[in-house]
Amino acid sequence: MSDFDEKSITHAVIARLSECDDPRFKQVMTSLVTHLHDFVRDVKLTEQEWITAIQFLTDTGKACTDKRQEFILLSDTLGVSILVITLNHQAEQGSLESTVLGPYYWEGAPELPRGSNLAVDVKGEPAFYSGRVLGVDGQPLAGALLDIWSGDGEGNYDMQMPGDVGMKARGKIHTDEQGRYWFRSIRPTFYPVPTDGPVGRMLRKMGRHPFRPGHIHMIVSAPGHASVTTHLFVAGSEYLDSDAVFGMKESLVAKFNRHEAGKAPTGEHVPTPFYTVEYDFRLRPVSAAAAA
Ligand code: BEZ
Ligand code: FE
Repeated sequence: MSDFDEKSITHAVIARLSECDDPRFKQVMTSLVTHLHDFVRDVKLTEQEWITAIQFLTDTGKACTDKRQEFILLSDTLGVSILVITLNHQAEQGSLESTVLGPYYWEGAPELPRGSNLAVDVKGEPAFYSGRVLGVDGQPLAGALLDIWSGDGEGNYDMQMPGDVGMKARGKIHTDEQGRYWFRSIRPTFYPVPTDGPVGRMLRKMGRHPFRPGHIHMIVSAPGHASVTTHLFVAGSEYLDSDAVFGMKESLVAKFNRHEAGKAPTGEHVPTPFYTVEYDFRLRPVSAAAAA
C-alpha cells in the first residue's frame, strides 16, 4: 500500500479498470482519465475552479428539458460535435459533407410535391432552391429525399416562435426521375444559439459571440446511399468565418442570386425581390456489408 502522489493517482485509477470486460469502454475510460488528469495538472486547477466547474455542469444538466439539450449545445460550442461528425463521416470522392444537426430538427415534416413553398406565412425574402441529388459517379438518384428545415428570415425557428405555431419552414421533397429537386422557402439569416443558459454564460466569459451564419438544414438520403445531415450556407452571410458551433464547411456554401420582383423559376409571379440558389448533393453508396 502507498499514498498516491500527483502522478501515481492516474495509474491507480486506470488500474481499477483491470476487471472491465468491455474492451472499447476500457480504452475510452483509460484515455479519458489520462487526459482529464493531465488537464488538471496542466492548469493546476484550484479547488475554487473545480467547484465552479461542477456547478457549471450541474447548471447545464438542470437547463436540459424535453425541448432543450444544453449538453449538446456545450458540445457544439466547444467544437466536440463537429469533431465527432468529421471523424465519423469522412466525405469521399467529392461526396456531400456533414455538419451539425442542431436542436431544431422536428421529425415528421410534411411530404410535399416538388416546387412547394415550405415557408407559407414565414417572414423572409423568398428563395427558390433547385439542383440534383447524384451518386459520386454522377448518376442521378431518383426518389432521393430531402428533409429540410430552417429558421425564418429573422433567424427564428418555428419552435422558438411564441404560441403553438406548429411546423413552419419545414418539408420533405423527393427527387424526380432525373434526380432533380426544387422548392421555395426563404433566404435564411444569421442567428444566435440559445444564450440564456450556462452555455451563454460560458460564451460571454470566453469573449465569444453566439452567432451562426445563415443556413438551411437538410438530411439528404437515397436508397443504397449513406444519408447526410448537412446545411447550405448563404454565401456572404455574416459569421461564415466564425460559426459559433464550428459547423461551416466551404463545400456547403451556396450562392444566393438576387432577382428583382417578377417571374420565379416555378412560373409564379413574386411581387418582391427574390433569390435563386442551385446546389447538387452527391451521396456515396453504402457497401452491401454496411447496409446489411
Ligand atoms: C442550428 O443550426 O440550428 C444550431 C446548431 C447548433 C446549436 C444551436 C443551433
Ligand atoms: Fe440552424
